Amino acid sequence: MPDVTWWQKAVIYQIYPRSFQDGNGDGIGDLPGIKERLPYLADLGVDAIWLSPIFPSPMEDFGYDIADYCAIDPLFGTMANFDELLGQARRLGLRLLMDLVPNHTSSRHPWFIESRSSRSSAKRDWYIWRDPAPGGGPPNNWLSEFGGSAWSFDEATGQYYYHAFLPSQPDLHWRNPDVRRAMHDVMRFWLAKGVDGFRIDVLWHLIKDDQFRDNPPNPDYRDGQPPHWQVLPLYTTDRPEVHEVVAGFRRVADEFLDRLLIGEIYLPPKRLVAYYGKDREGVHLPFNFSLLETDWHARKLAALIDEYEEVLPSGSWPNWVLGNHDRPRIATRVGAAQARLAAMLLLTLRGTPTIYYGDEIGLSNIDVPPQHVCDPLGKAAPTLGRDGARGPMRWNDGAYGGFSPARPWCYCPEPADGPTVGEQSSEPGSLLNLYKRLITARREHPALALGTYHPLVATGDVLLFSRKYPESPSVLVALNLGDQPAAAVLKEKTLRGRVIVSAFGDREEEPIADGVHLRPDEGLVIALD
Ligand code: GLC
Ligand code: CA
Repeated sequence: MPDVTWWQKAVIYQIYPRSFQDGNGDGIGDLPGIKERLPYLADLGVDAIWLSPIFPSPMEDFGYDIADYCAIDPLFGTMANFDELLGQARRLGLRLLMDLVPNHTSSRHPWFIESRSSRSSAKRDWYIWRDPAPGGGPPNNWLSEFGGSAWSFDEATGQYYYHAFLPSQPDLHWRNPDVRRAMHDVMRFWLAKGVDGFRIDVLWHLIKDDQFRDNPPNPDYRDGQPPHWQVLPLYTTDRPEVHEVVAGFRRVADEFLDRLLIGEIYLPPKRLVAYYGKDREGVHLPFNFSLLETDWHARKLAALIDEYEEVLPSGSWPNWVLGNHDRPRIATRVGAAQARLAAMLLLTLRGTPTIYYGDEIGLSNIDVPPQHVCDPLGKAAPTLGRDGARGPMRWNDGAYGGFSPARPWCYCPEPADGPTVGEQSSEPGSLLNLYKRLITARREHPALALGTYHPLVATGDVLLFSRKYPESPSVLVALNLGDQPAAAVLKEKTLRGRVIVSAFGDREEEPIADGVHLRPDEGLVIALD
């Protein structure tokens, strides 16, 4: 495989630590549990693991409300457990990425406790404090993503503070150089330990308008949509000055060798790609979430891939995401049959793919009854509830899928049916084995891991493209997103090759000549002669 930066040819795997493997029987996933499962990940063939937050936290947003950036929450284990996990990952050839949450802390972080202690506190300006509006009430109309005003009043000091999420998640004031320095030191702490980089939480949120202008009303707002969509986040997100902050993160990462920064950014492709920065000043990978948001139709997908490929600045490396802890699971969105094609797409498009734990066995969303909802977003906007996508990993047919002998932290029907790693490992045609074959194919075919992307003309439900890399066989990807048989015929040249991965696992090595014939929901990856 040609020599490129490790993360360009890597497959990333996201673990939601609460739900991966419980090591001590308290119903909550933890670091010793993850360590025990590392061989599974090495066998799956992924290269890097991203851990959602494991830091001390009141857990009001399940770890995205951090009270200490440089320690481990006892729920997950100890720093010694972390070091063991990192060491074991290294031995198995796995990289480790942490979650950096710089936009906000927990209100129980010592920085905020000090900041709110008085108007003259040395850390007052570490957060965003404003006087009430002239007639009283919040300083402006900015809304929290978790419901209501984004401003909470502090009785003791008579001012409001800003929080894009929960009142217990006050936003840091990123125009303040002291805040930048403190967070850079947090990064150095983990990078010096040897972690391979960070996924950076809500990166496009860090800087807010310095004139605190009202956000404009959203003319397209409809009843039933999340309440915070009533205004457009013009003055609260994606401000031009955010790119200086991103450049600061990049400088810190570049103090170390070969580290990776991924940005969590929900923006349309054109604005998203600005986060690559000019001259290596941005993050290496601004997460591309377009597959999370699209309708599942061949023509729509073809168009969104083209759009993304077209806006990518030269020298930047693409990436693709099918699921995460904030969005419904792919198997639920597109159904079990199409989940196979989604896997084929994720792992054959140009760019670094990120797999969400459990998607490789086709875990579906858990239907959580209202009285069991624990996600703060689910409480504020039930249609956006995220608990269902955060269910326990299913390892075997033991209690709670082998996740824990105890009742899991989140709603988890028992006995639950559904896929397990154990059962799928021994079934050649399983989704899990399809994932493994696709990852292996990426390793073996430079065209798949690194090649250029070429859309090919197709109609109806067929998505067709090829990947090309100098001096190695080109690869053709043909996916039938429909429930009727379909054919893909390449114009002009004759098509000859052999199947390297087939969705159902029953056509590998089959020679292909001229047309490609696909059964309903079938996909083929073909190495061309
Ligand atoms: C990010 C996280 C999400 C969290 C939010 C606030 O979007 O992925 O889980 O609730 O930030 O930190
Ligand atoms: Ca535990």
